[in-house]
Order: sequence, then C-alpha cells, then structure tokens
Amino acid sequence: MDWGMKNRLARIIRPDTGRGVMLAVDHGYFLGPTERLEVPRKTIQPLLPYADSLMITRGVLRTSVDANFPIPVVLRVSGGSSIIGKDLSNEKITTSIKEAIRLNVTALALSIFVGAQHEHESLISLAKLVDEGEEYGIPVLAVTAVGKELEKRDARYLSLACRIAAEFGAHLVKTYYCENFEKVVNSCPVPVIIAGGPKLANELDALQLTYDALQAGAVGVDMGRNIWQSDYPVSMIKAVRAIVHENVSVKEAHELFNKLKNTEQSTKTATSV
Ligand code: 5RP
Repeated sequence: MDWGMKNRLARIIRPDTGRGVMLAVDHGYFLGPTERLEVPRKTIQPLLPYADSLMITRGVLRTSVDANFPIPVVLRVSGGSSIIGKDLSNEKITTSIKEAIRLNVTALALSIFVGAQHEHESLISLAKLVDEGEEYGIPVLAVTAVGKELEKRDARYLSLACRIAAEFGAHLVKTYYCENFEKVVNSCPVPVIIAGGPKLANELDALQLTYDALQAGAVGVDMGRNIWQSDYPVSMIKAVRAIVHENVSVKEAHELFNKLKNTEQSTKTATSV
C-alpha cells in the first residue's frame, strides 16, 4: 500500500489499538436538520476532542468546523436524494476529488445501495471513487445499507453488501450491527466499522451494541445519533471510546457514562445561568 494511503488509514484506525472512533454528523445531506443536529457547530464542537475522525459533508465542514482543529475528515461525497423524495438510492458523487484534496480530507465516503433500484449506479460510483482515491492515496469508506435497505438488516444481506463493497475496492466498509455479525466481518476482506443507527432506548443499549460489534471483529464505530441525541453526548462519546480503545466492559463503560454525566449536567447548568 502506498505511504499516503497507509498514513491516512492510520489516522482513522489508530495503529496502537487497531481501532477507531469516527463521529458521524453527515445526516443532513438527506435528512435536513436532524434532531439535535439542527445547529451543526453546537453539536459537533464539544465532541471533536474525543473523536478520532469526523464524517461530514463539505458544507457543514466549511461552515461549522474550525479549520485549525486538526481532526481527520472523512468526507461524504455522495448524495442527491432526500428523505421526502422518491428513492433514496438515487445517489451520485456530489463532490469532486479536487475539492476533497482542497479540504485536506483523510478519506472519502459514499453509500452503496445493494438490492435497491439504483444499485448499479451506486456501485459504479464506488468503483469510480476508488479509482480516483487510489490515484491520490485517499482511502474510500463504503457505507452499506441505508434507507429502505435497512429493513434487510441480517447477516446474509449485510455480508453481501459489505463483500461487494470490498470487491469494488473500498478500503473500509461501514455497516449496521446484526445477529451473527462475525459472518459479515469474516467474509469482508477489509476492515468493518459499525454505524449506530437510530437512537436506541438508552445509552446502555448503544454501549452494548458497540461492545458486541467489536467482539465480533468490527474495528470501530462511525456513530452519530446514539452519541449526539443522548442528553449527555460528551459522556456518551467518552464511554464509547473507552470500549473501543481501552477494551472496557459494557458495565464499566456504563459506570463511566453515569459518572461523567453528572459533571456534564453541572457544566450545562452553570453555562445556562
Ligand atoms: C447515513 C450515514 C450516517 O453517517 C450513519 O448512519 C452513522 O450515523 P448513525 O450512527 O446515526 O446511524 O452514513 O447515511
């Protein structure tokens, strides 16, 4: 692997732990002002020190993240449909490689829609993006199974989608956790990270999901809503981080969350008076 590619991947998956915490804040590209991400800067800023990398669109990056904060950026470069449109799978590449280089990104991210109406176009976009990424040493993260395709959230479907992404040359794959997740990881020859998905009933469930995915072989998380839709987002990202990088148990991570949330609450109260 070329030095540049290897170096960029090492900024996403920490070589010392072999894992990574990516903070996902790209939801607005098809969901608009998602709950608790209405004002991106407000949501993102307090979490930045605890994320290894940030998954984001160019618009929110430019407007809502300080350029002098040295966080590796995983730039979402696909889109073209909204939640109220006809078909979420109708995505194309929305941001050029030149623009990505101008923004000094560490990786490019694009969704594929295996089994959906626009499966073919999304896979061809992935192939094109990988060609461009290889040319400049920029890794590509393929995001599998979003929107309607999530209804097929089982190991058979997710293995198919992840394996196809890897076969097309994706350097990393993001998917959703499911039962028999080992099957998904073992049949995908590139590292797999998990999305958190919609906000779960409580933080304990999200920590359990993180733990289970890592036990099954995932190399990290690309988590959004289960962090910033928590009432205590900073405590939550720190607890997720402890599982990912420090190998703590779910119980220990939850205890840490409960301990930290009291401080986070006092800080909030102090700043609101
Ligand atoms: C949407 C995405 C999101 O980044 C991804 O779903 C991760 O966020 P969350 O943990 O909220 O699911 O790629 O297409």
